[in-house]
Amino acid sequence: MTSLNALRRPDRYPRSAAYDPQWVVDNCMGPNPLWLLEDLGRDCVLRPGMKVLDLGCGLGMTSIFLAREYDVEVWAADLWIAPEDNRTRFRTAGVADRAHPVAADARELPFDEGKFDAIVGVGSYHYFGTDDLYIGYITKFLAPGGQLAVAVPSVRRELRDVGGIPDHLRTGIGWEVLSFHTPNWWRFHWEQTHLVEVTAARMQHEGWADWKLWCEVCAEHSSDETVRRGSVRDLRMLDADRGEHLTFALITARAPA
Ligand SMILES: C[S@@+](CC[C@H](N)C(=O)[O-])C[C@H]1O[C@@H](n2cnc3c(N)ncnc32)[C@H](O)[C@@H]1O
Repeated sequence: MTSLNALRRPDRYPRSAAYDPQWVVDNCMGPNPLWLLEDLGRDCVLRPGMKVLDLGCGLGMTSIFLAREYDVEVWAADLWIAPEDNRTRFRTAGVADRAHPVAADARELPFDEGKFDAIVGVGSYHYFGTDDLYIGYITKFLAPGGQLAVAVPSVRRELRDVGGIPDHLRTGIGWEVLSFHTPNWWRFHWEQTHLVEVTAARMQHEGWADWKLWCEVCAEHSSDETVRRGSVRDLRMLDADRGEHLTFALITARAPA
């Protein structure tokens, strides 16, 4: 048995520890979004009043965290989740005045160029950002000196360098695991454009262990049976992986001032 309170880890994630673990488990769409965002926040500068785009915000939990913890104004954009649903969640969380839900495809954003002081993506950027040309598109929406910060599932070595997709990743995730890349892959990809300066590109400390703990809690405590079943499947994959491949990458960069 893993208790829900195992998600409260004030030593490593003090801000996330203040959030009700049941609420966190029931509002996530991927592994440990608050831990990832809190960690990513250590590599960024987020000041009150900044305009931040939460790209692929899912059920808006990361947008709520951004609005509450950093007092920034957030545009919460997602392709699959209806903005009305996120509006209700933002009202309930008391951040409706500074979190704006938007229905948007990351490839066709309905914003003015240069609008955002920061663009943040937690567990979403790998769905579109591996397109070599996407960085040229997304950086247009950054203000001068604006920051791009993403946390994505990652591999410790590029899959082409390990000879292909290991069986347990093919079973657990499928060929889509090809969108998982190392922090250095992302660094090279962004840096070579000269459109941004990469300020950090690292693996999350104990990323695999965090992911496993998250799945153990979700497998027992999620209110959604599909999530419980998915977590059991992910646990099988993580156990087979033993931390050899799977982790998270945190990459941050800044546009020229
Ligand atoms: C794994 S979920 C993560 C959601 C949230 N950030 C979290 O951690 O709970 C990935 C999200 O990316 C969004 N997404 C995928 N492709 C997208 C696109 N082209 N444009 C906007 N959002 C996209 C999905 O709608 C989904 O909500």
